[in-house]
Parts: sequence; C-alpha cells; structure tokens
Amino acid sequence: MCGIIGYAGKTEAVPVLLDGLERLEYRGYDSAGVAVVSSDGKLQVRKSRGRLAVLRSLLSGEKPLSGEIGIGHTRWATHGEPNDVNAHPHVGQENKIAVVHNGIIENYLEIKNSLMRKGISFSSDTDTEVIVQLLEYYYKKDSNLMDAVYRVLSRIKGAYAMGILCSDYPGQMVAVRKDAPLLIGFGDDGNYIASDVTALLSHTRTVTYLEDDEVAVITADTVQIYDSDRCCTEKEKHVIEWDAAAAEKGGYAHFMLKEIMEQPEAVRKTVSPRLADGKILLQELEDAGNIIQNISRIYIVACGSAYHVGMIGKYTLEKLLHIPVEACLASEFRYSEPILGETALVIVISQSGETLDSMAALREAKKRGSKVLSIVNVMGSSIARESDFVLYTWAGPEIAVATTKAYTTQMVLLIMLGVFFARKLKQMEEYDRIIEALIALPEKIKEVLKDLNHYQKIASRYFNHNRVFYMGRNVDYALGLEGSLKLKEISYIHSESYAAGELKHGTISLIEPGTLVVALATYAPLVEKSLSNIVEVKSRGAEVIGMTTEKTADIISSQASEMFVIPRTHPVLQPILGVIPLQLFAYYVALNRGCDIDKPRNLAKSVTVE
Ligand code: F6R
Repeated sequence: MCGIIGYAGKTEAVPVLLDGLERLEYRGYDSAGVAVVSSDGKLQVRKSRGRLAVLRSLLSGEKPLSGEIGIGHTRWATHGEPNDVNAHPHVGQENKIAVVHNGIIENYLEIKNSLMRKGISFSSDTDTEVIVQLLEYYYKKDSNLMDAVYRVLSRIKGAYAMGILCSDYPGQMVAVRKDAPLLIGFGDDGNYIASDVTALLSHTRTVTYLEDDEVAVITADTVQIYDSDRCCTEKEKHVIEWDAAAAEKGGYAHFMLKEIMEQPEAVRKTVSPRLADGKILLQELEDAGNIIQNISRIYIVACGSAYHVGMIGKYTLEKLLHIPVEACLASEFRYSEPILGETALVIVISQSGETLDSMAALREAKKRGSKVLSIVNVMGSSIARESDFVLYTWAGPEIAVATTKAYTTQMVLLIMLGVFFARKLKQMEEYDRIIEALIALPEKIKEVLKDLNHYQKIASRYFNHNRVFYMGRNVDYALGLEGSLKLKEISYIHSESYAAGELKHGTISLIEPGTLVVALATYAPLVEKSLSNIVEVKSRGAEVIGMTTEKTADIISSQASEMFVIPRTHPVLQPILGVIPLQLFAYYVALNRGCDIDKPRNLAKSVTVE
C-alpha cells in the first residue's frame, strides 16, 4: 500500500524514480510525486493527483528537475483525500526537508496540535506532514539531521517506512522503517531504497532488508545502517531470484491475464522442487516435520483471497489430518481470543508477506506460544522473516492487484503441506495417487487455459448483469468466495457467494428472473445436492452458469445455460483447477465493461495498514 522509491547515484534521479514508480504503481495509484536535491542543495518537488502518467506529463512539460539523488512515492490515500496537496513527498515549512512515507502515524493529531501551537502551519490533511514538520522543527534546533531523525522516531507512534532528503545534505538520503517494508538495493550506478523489490529489479537484485527501528544513511557510494541505539550494524545482503522480465507485461494486455496464463509454470515451480522419489519433501521444515504429532488444532490466518485459500485448507486439512482446522480472517484473529499455545499451529498465508493484519496475527500467535508456519510469495518479506517456518510459493512477482497465480500456488502448497503432515501421522491413503496428480497438475491447468474464447464468449453474454450469486458446497463454497471476490474487485459488479444449502435460509428472496447464478459443482460427493440447489434457483428465474468436471458435465448442463467444464484430478487438488474459469470469467467481464483491470478503483496491492 503506497510505494516508495529512492535513489542516490551517479546519474539523473528523475528517470530512475519514474521507472521505479511505474513498477510500484500497483501499490497505490491515487497520486504520485518526486523530490530531488540538486548538487548545489536545491530541494525540488513535483507531485500531482492521479496516475503516474499525470506526473510524467507534468515533469515533461517543464525544465527537467536536475539532481542525482531523489525520492518518489505513489499513494493509496488514508489521511486526506487524493489531491495534489496530500500527495507525497511532503516538505517542511522551511522547505529544507522532504519525506515520503508508507504507513500510518497514529499520534499525528497530538503532534500536529503541539506544532501548530508553536506557530508551524500545515498545508495538507495527511499524517505524513507531521513527520516532516517535526523533523524540520528539531533540525532547526539541533542543526544535525540524524539527531533530528532519532528525536522524531522517539516521538511518533504507528507504522512507517520513510525516505528523507534534506537540502543541507545534498548527497545523502535517510531511510527508516517500523512495521512497514523497506529494502535497500546496491547497484553499480548508485544505491536505492524501495518498499517493494519489483521496483529495483531493473537496476539490481542485491538487497538488504531494513529491520524495525533501523536507520540507513545512503549515498551514491555508501550505505550505513544504524540500530535504535545509533550503533552501526553489519547487514547480510541477499540476491533476489526474480528477474526484471518477470515483472513486465510480456505482450499481454494486462498483468492479470499474463499471471493467469503463468499458472501452469508457477504451480510447477512450486511443486516440483518439493517432490523427490515419489514423496513430498519439505526441506524447509527439516526435523520440524514432526511438529504435527503434538498439534491438536490448526488456525489458518490470512486476508482476502489468501483467506479463501485458508477456507479450502479448512475443508481439506481437516479431512486429511482429523484435527480441527479453522480458517480465520487475520483482521479478526487477534481480537477473537483464539485458543493458542504450544499445541496450536498457526499457518499464515500471504502473497506479499507484508499484510499488516496477517503480520499482527503472526505476532499474537508467537507471543502466545504457538509456532507459526507461513506460506509466502515474496522472499525476505516481514512475515517470512518472523515466522518459525516458511514455505515459499515460487509464483514470481505478482503485479495485478487481483491475485491469481499467488492464489493457486498458495493452495497447492497448503494441500501439499496437509498431505505431508498426514503421512507423518500415518493416516495418508492414496498418497501415490496424489503425487501422480501433483505431477500432472500443470498440464491439467494448461487444458483449462486452452480455450480462452469460451470464457470470453460467456463473459460477453453476461457482463451487463449487475448482481451475481456464486453458490457451491464444501470446497466449491470456498471457491465461490474467491470467484465472487475476483468479479467484485475488478468489474465492480455486486456479487455474493453462498454455501448452496444456505441460500434458502433468506438469500433466495433476491433471486428473480434474469439473476445470474454461478453454480459450482466440482466436489464430486455433493454434485447431486448441488443440482437440487441449481433447480431451486432456476425455478425462480435465475440464469445459471454451471461449473463441474468432465464426469458430471451432463448432469449439471441439463440445468445450466452455460458451462465451465474442467478436467478431473485427485479430489484434494480439484479446486486448483476450479478457480481458473472463475478468474477468466471475472477478467473478461471486467474487460467488456472497460474497467481498469490491473488497478481497480480504491484498491492497492499489499495492504500495510490495519
Ligand atoms: C484479492 C487480493 C487480496 C489479497 C489480500 C491478502 O485479489 O489480492 O484479497 O489476497 O489483500 O494479501 P497478501 O496475500 O499479500 O497477504
């Protein structure tokens, strides 16, 4: 949520910042801005409401901002509406210091009021402006930037990642973080800061992760990192395995479509290194594979689509392990008194590894004595670093705001984990069949992706419906939640997902002639029951798109106007194939409606506020 890029180097900063912002725009896109300090110490700021393109045209219509050091920001508004003034960077009233900030300063009002009493005037509605005004206030007193930075850090409460420039320090950029991601990149032509590794891939893949309360001082040639006691610390450098091309559209109209089409490969990369000699091998768990012996309950904690993976996990892991499994919304978890402790295992699922609610749930679980195993896509992210065990989904960078390939890889990995644990508990039947099915899975996904015209055709028939219901039983109910979310977030059609048997307890009153119902019936044991639910909505006038496997296609198609028919796989893996038509349907509906698919309104990738 919000993107930060910073550069201290040997070439002009503005093109580097704009390139970084373009790659970060998926993290927030209601305004953007840059600040540059020229070699003679002139602080120059340009910012504007709207997409990055607006800032680009602002910058191209004037004399280029010159300077080899700069910071940039793309915003997802929290405090203050998206407008030019509230856009970052923010500058103090002395026009000496500029700050870009991700996160929320919780005590900003108290600080703002106290600064206003001292005669400092504010121009924006943001919490960020208090940081820069306070910095300038202390700097004016102490004349030392680092003293001022540490004084500010001791005063502010909340979450932050920040890049700071001061016109009196023309070659230097300061970076700090607490509970919001920030990393430092080491390049040949200078050094970088970024909230997200994708912003750096075209410049460098060598990075270090800033930890909470660390402060970095960055120049073109040096990076020095200090802890909260102002002692210099040595940090490990990491090499990111993603390459720059993975974060490009590669000829596709949208990142979302590209990422949907990448699913066979993403699943293969996630599965195959973990299969050896006909067995699931989770090296990441090493000896700890036996922890399952002492576990009496599992919580799967996540947000949004990752939570929907957790719902699939609830049904599947409970069946495999015969222990209670609960899928929990991370935003509710720590406020709901979960029964934690040594015998509870908490599985946190997160693509970004930075979702604040999931992070807070992780910390709560650890504080209360449970082990945390996370399933994460971004290497070195905060959730990965704080978990006891991490399983990475090797999906590569996911840029579209609506998740697709991260979702499928999370699901396959969670199911593999369930099968792995079940074998440890010596209660795994059909192990060999599941391994075979895992090996065959990428090819089956390719089959689902073969005929894009089919999804396109169905979407163009229904794209102007304003209300859509998804229904299904068991894992199909969980799949419906994801299908409905995909449709809502990118096409803005109101949609709900119901457990098919629940519809008649109230919601069926909303079904009227022409209402579109997407009926999911891929879970073989309940296909006939699902059929009855389809008949119920049809007899009230609903139009039905049915989804099932080849084996039961005839049964469902007898009642449906259109069909998504998916290949069969082992039942525990079936939902991985089932989600793909739902992703494509949402994509083509949104395309027909002319929506901004990769950057849906009001949303942002990676939600780092509570
Ligand atoms: C929906 C979507 C979100 C994320 C959720 C969690 O398409 O992408 O619902 O799944 O914000 O994000 P991560 O997985 O990064 O924790």
